[in-house]
Amino acid sequence: MTPLRVLTGITTSGTPHLGNYVGAIRPAVRASLQPGVQSFYFLADYHALIKVGEPERIARSTLEIAATWLAAGLDPQRVTFYRQSDIPEIPELTWFLTCMAGKGLLNRAHAYKAQVDKNLAGGADADADVTAGLFMYPVLMAADILMFKAHQVPVGRDQIQHIEMARDMAASFNHLYGEHLVLPEAAIEETVATLPGLDGRKMSKSYDNTIALFAPPQVLRKQIASLVTDSRKPGEPKSTEGSALFQIYQAFASEPETQAMRQAFAEGIAWAQAKDMLFERIDREIAPMRGTYDSLMARPAQIEEILRAGAAKARQLSQPLMAQLRQAVGLRDLSAVAQQVAHAAPKHAAPSIKQYREADGRFFVKLIDADGTTLLQSLGLDSPREAGTLAARLRQGDASVLSHPALQPGAPLPAIEQALARLLSLSQSA
Ligand code: TRP
Repeated sequence: MTPLRVLTGITTSGTPHLGNYVGAIRPAVRASLQPGVQSFYFLADYHALIKVGEPERIARSTLEIAATWLAAGLDPQRVTFYRQSDIPEIPELTWFLTCMAGKGLLNRAHAYKAQVDKNLAGGADADADVTAGLFMYPVLMAADILMFKAHQVPVGRDQIQHIEMARDMAASFNHLYGEHLVLPEAAIEETVATLPGLDGRKMSKSYDNTIALFAPPQVLRKQIASLVTDSRKPGEPKSTEGSALFQIYQAFASEPETQAMRQAFAEGIAWAQAKDMLFERIDREIAPMRGTYDSLMARPAQIEEILRAGAAKARQLSQPLMAQLRQAVGLRDLSAVAQQVAHAAPKHAAPSIKQYREADGRFFVKLIDADGTTLLQSLGLDSPREAGTLAARLRQGDASVLSHPALQPGAPLPAIEQALARLLSLSQSA
């Protein structure tokens, strides 16, 4: 059975903060430890170029995010952890998908639409400040996902539309060229909290209200001290409802600890003391990782090496898939094409497909070469529909049929591939 493949990307445009940790990093590292799951995590540095034009910031953020994920416990032996720009097949697939993606579909992408709406509202030209990169963002993201045949993509709600677009592009590609790509699904983690920031709004870089994840402890303490509270005095009971301090505490604390804090609020704990407790609780979880983070940041060459090893592992999948896709779309080795033309025999000499039923009541499919050799032979299938679908895929020369569990090769692979290529060209010229 193929394991469940889970993939997610992190744009390298900032410094990880507590909200990233609670909302994405911590749950992802936990999920990566589950058995039976093959996980892919990557640094989306090509995506970062869409928003960030400062080279130093891109490089710095890539380093910080890599160190953060490793410090948080991501095990590069267990998962595939790589940098997007180390995989040249990704921009190549991006182009293939660009040729599939409807411009109308991309017009509806939220990030692009938001910019256009803002421009129009401000009386500016619709496309002011819109780069083709922003417009193409969903296509690059689809290539990230489809390249590794991910089944599930854990993302925030704001990204669901992008996963649906990736499905769309995969379906169009498969429709035109055969079943090569897996249709992904968004996996939304319902239980993960979004953390409030220093001003009480959602913690986000764009609100400038974040608490850095791996700042030195004295900085963390200071940032927590500046967290917004109401003006209740020590001794006055305080409400946990709507309290950013309480919500952040809860994201780190156990159930009994949370209960105790709720009690302390009711009994009028001073804000300064509650902030001390919040600092202590966060620091207890973060401190061991901070040690790892600091030592990784001191050895960037080690991170570079880990990422390159991850890319080598990832390319063991991306290179063969891309070779298959190049073949599928017709970017082919011309010497093989010339042979096909030379051998292009009269119509009756084409490979053929036989569908039949045996005495045991089961259904069979066979691919027979023009000279009568059996190239592929199916096992007995229970349903005539299944046999019919299989036969139809063979008739269209769909090369992905080779991975069908019921098909047994009866001849060397190149002969089979050549026959399928011939069927493909016949079905296309028909
Ligand atoms: N767009 C995602 C974000 O901003 C990052 C990303 C890039 C991504 N490629 C991806 C996420 C592929 C999941 C899968 O959060």
